[in-house]
Amino acid sequence: MNNGNNRSLISLEKVEKIYKTKAGPLRVLKGVDLEIDEGEFVAIVGPSGSGKSTLINMITGIDRPTSGEVFVAGQRLTKLSENQVAKWRGKNVGVVFQFFQLLPTLTVIENVMMPMHYVGTYSGQRRERAMELLELVDLPDVANKYPSQISGGQQQRAAIARALANDPPLIVGDEPTGNLDAVSAGLMFAMFEDLVAQGKTIVMVTHDRDLAGQIPRVEEVRDGQLMSPDEIDQRLVASAGQES
Ligand SMILES: Nc1ncnc2c1ncn2[C@@H]1O[C@H](COP(=O)(O)OP(=O)(O)OP(=O)(O)O)[C@@H](O)[C@H]1O
Ligand SMILES: [Mg+2]
Repeated sequence: MNNGNNRSLISLEKVEKIYKTKAGPLRVLKGVDLEIDEGEFVAIVGPSGSGKSTLINMITGIDRPTSGEVFVAGQRLTKLSENQVAKWRGKNVGVVFQFFQLLPTLTVIENVMMPMHYVGTYSGQRRERAMELLELVDLPDVANKYPSQISGGQQQRAAIARALANDPPLIVGDEPTGNLDAVSAGLMFAMFEDLVAQGKTIVMVTHDRDLAGQIPRVEEVRDGQLMSPDEIDQRLVASAGQES
């Protein structure tokens, strides 16, 4: 367990991402270096189109860089096949999206059980484990409903339960509170804080300044690059000056 040494869980080295578009190559990530230690809670902020989702997709292995290296939870993702990455992700990363992305044809509890199929959880244990997770996110009553029958806040809590199904060390969110009212967003944030207290690592994109302000580490993406902490500090000082 944690012996006090910080261990790197995520390491991006000179990550470049160039999309081929009709208008020609579009350079979206321009040499990103990023280290995140086990147990950190990190917010990714930045303007629309700056490359936040692209960056997040590098960390989850949903997409791969044009050049550079990505190491996450002990794996060099850049050398794995798509199938190997999918298998690795199922065990190591819980992903929470802005639009929840629950499967509409499965009930809430079936959605939570889904990731367990891929890692060979004994089938007799899946339902029990899923129910425990639904209790954790305070949703046991809607276990047998379909996603369309519950609220957005409930859907996002179900998505969090699903993300936790295989007890991954890393939780990644791309604007997970983007479609939630303030109360649901606050609940979700409290849940994330609990998970960090339990030793999970969380990286989440957010447009919500209040939320980002409560997250211990904030990384800002600007035009495909991470701003240095100095640059962010200077901007904070400048905007504080404007307010007074
Ligand atoms: N698959 C793709 N093919 C071509 N261009 C893409 C692709 N995905 C993203 N882009 C472009 O890359 C840039 C960065 O996109 P990205 O989705 O990473 O931004 P973002 O910071 O997440 O923005 P938002 O805050 O609006 O979600 C944008 O100009 C986008 O149009
Ligand atoms: Mg995005």
